[in-house]
Amino acid sequence: MIKKLALSALMALTLGSAPALAAGGEPHITDYAFSFEGPFGSYDQAQLQRGLQVYTEVCSACHGLELVAFRTLTAETGLGLDDATMRGFAASMEVPDGDGGWRAAGGPDHFPGSMDENAPDLSLMAKARAGFHGPYGLGINQLMRGMGGAEYIASFLTGFTGVEVEEGGAFLYENAAFGGNVSMAPQLFDDMIEYADGTQATEEQMAVDVAAFLMWAAEPKQTERKMWGFIGVIFLTLLASLLYLTNKRLWAPIKAEAKRS
Ligand code: HEC
Repeated sequence: MIKKLALSALMALTLGSAPALAAGGEPHITDYAFSFEGPFGSYDQAQLQRGLQVYTEVCSACHGLELVAFRTLTAETGLGLDDATMRGFAASMEVPDGDGGWRAAGGPDHFPGSMDENAPDLSLMAKARAGFHGPYGLGINQLMRGMGGAEYIASFLTGFTGVEVEEGGAFLYENAAFGGNVSMAPQLFDDMIEYADGTQATEEQMAVDVAAFLMWAAEPKQTERKMWGFIGVIFLTLLASLLYLTNKRLWAPIKAEAKRS
């Protein structure tokens, strides 16, 4: 009896922890290589600028980016736009003017929110999703590869299997990275946009670029964080060596005395 109970509990546990897959199979995440991976990684300005272009021309039709202020687009460790370009970009967007009307946005304003109420705001999406699961072992994986938020987004955008189902009048699209059906239709198609820097806009290129941009949106100071972390480690190493030497010198006379007696 107890054996049976334990067995069914185990079954429930293992079955319960598997994501609910309409289609079956594990979510499939491709481990794309990003410039910002690893303890010394940093953002690739050109890639972030391409990602902003994909976001603006494709994703912003439905999604919002409410937590990101236009002026942050000038950050050197981020997109590095010059001031005039940033202002021009902001002015192409409209924000509420507080009197029930609309006005052109300026540097301190934020990106608009979601246009489609079912489409989540993407400001923190790269932090809200993990491509690689669980804090395994010593966390070395996370240190070297991050949590995989950007990998998840890129895999999600390229993960549509082409299978569509209708459920209660709404269409759902099977997605291998999502691990089931999702209400967002495939959005990226080869050469649907023309990159300002001349890069070929393949589906995968756009997916990876916009994923990098969304990683930056969720963590604009990542490069600084890594730099200060590194400086911290150097400082602590120096401090530890100095303390060790101080300790040795302080105790030297006492040790010498102990030896003599
Ligand atoms: C036509 C509207 C539309 C467009 C355009 C669109 N999305 Fe979506 N997106 C949605 C909707 C609706 C959902 C919610 C899907 C759900 O939860 O079933 C969604 C969900 C998502 C999710 C969350 C998936 C998850 O794990 O929950 C991400 C990430 C995402 N979209 C990224 C993007 C990116 C990046 C672009 C631009 C390349 C984009 N979307 C373009 C409508 C859109």
